[in-house]
Amino acid sequence: MRLNYTKSKIDFENLEKDPLTFFLKWIQEAIEVDKNEANACVLSTISAHNKPLSRVVLLKDISTKGFTFFTNYKSEKAINIKKNNSVALNFYWPELERQVRVNGIAKKINAKDSDDYFKERPKESQLGSLLSNQSSVIDIMYNFDNSFKKIKEKYKNQKIKRPKYWGGYCVIPEKIEFWQGRPSRFHDRILYEFDGKIWNLKRLAP
Ligand SMILES: Cc1cc2nc3c(=O)[nH]c(=O)nc-3n(C[C@H](O)[C@H](O)[C@H](O)COP(=O)(O)O)c2cc1C
Repeated sequence: MRLNYTKSKIDFENLEKDPLTFFLKWIQEAIEVDKNEANACVLSTISAHNKPLSRVVLLKDISTKGFTFFTNYKSEKAINIKKNNSVALNFYWPELERQVRVNGIAKKINAKDSDDYFKERPKESQLGSLLSNQSSVIDIMYNFDNSFKKIKEKYKNQKIKRPKYWGGYCVIPEKIEFWQGRPSRFHDRILYEFDGKIWNLKRLAP
C-alpha cells in the first residue's frame, strides 16, 4: 500500500501562535470526517526498565493546560507514569492524512474534575471501573458476566462513587508536531516547542 497524499497542506504563512488552538482546529476537522473515534490516540510511557510501552486511550478534554484522558491509577501505564511522568501522545487521522505528536508531562487531575467526569459516564462504564483491576493478571477462564450481573444487582438503586483508583491525567505539552501528508513524500511538518514562556516554531524536513 502506498498512498500519494493530496488532501491538504499547512499554511506556513498563517500559522497559529498557540499549538493548542491549532490542535483544536485539526481535531474538530477530524471529528467531522471520522465516523469512529477521532479522539483516540496512542499513549506511550517508559517502564521502570526503560522499555517503551504504547496503548490507545481516548482524549476526553483539551484545554489551555493540556490533554486529558482517564484510566485506572493502578494500571501498568499509571505505574510507568509514577516512575517517569514524561509521556508521548500520537494522533493519526488517515481521512485527513494528518498526524499530531505530543510530548509532555502527565499529571493527575484534581479529584473534583475526575468526580465530575465519572458522574457523566454511563452506569455500565462506572460499574466496569469498579470491576476491573486494570492490567492485573486474571484467571484465563475468568467470566466477567457473572460478576457484572452481581455488581449490577448490588448497585441497582444506588449511585456509584468514583473509586479512588480511577481518574484523569492531564498531559501538559512541551512539544507538539503537526504533520500533513503531501504529494511525492514532501510532507509538511511544523514543530512547536515550549521554552517555559512562549511557544517557538520550527519547520522540519519531511
Ligand atoms: C479505541 C480504544 C480506546 C481506549 N480507551 C482507553 C481509555 O480511555 N482509557 C484506558 O485506560 N484504556 C483505554 N483503552 C485500553 C488501553 O488501550 C489499554 O488496553 C488499557 O488501558 C491497559 O493499558 P496498560 O496495561 O498499559 O495500563 C482503549 C483501547 C482502545 C482500542
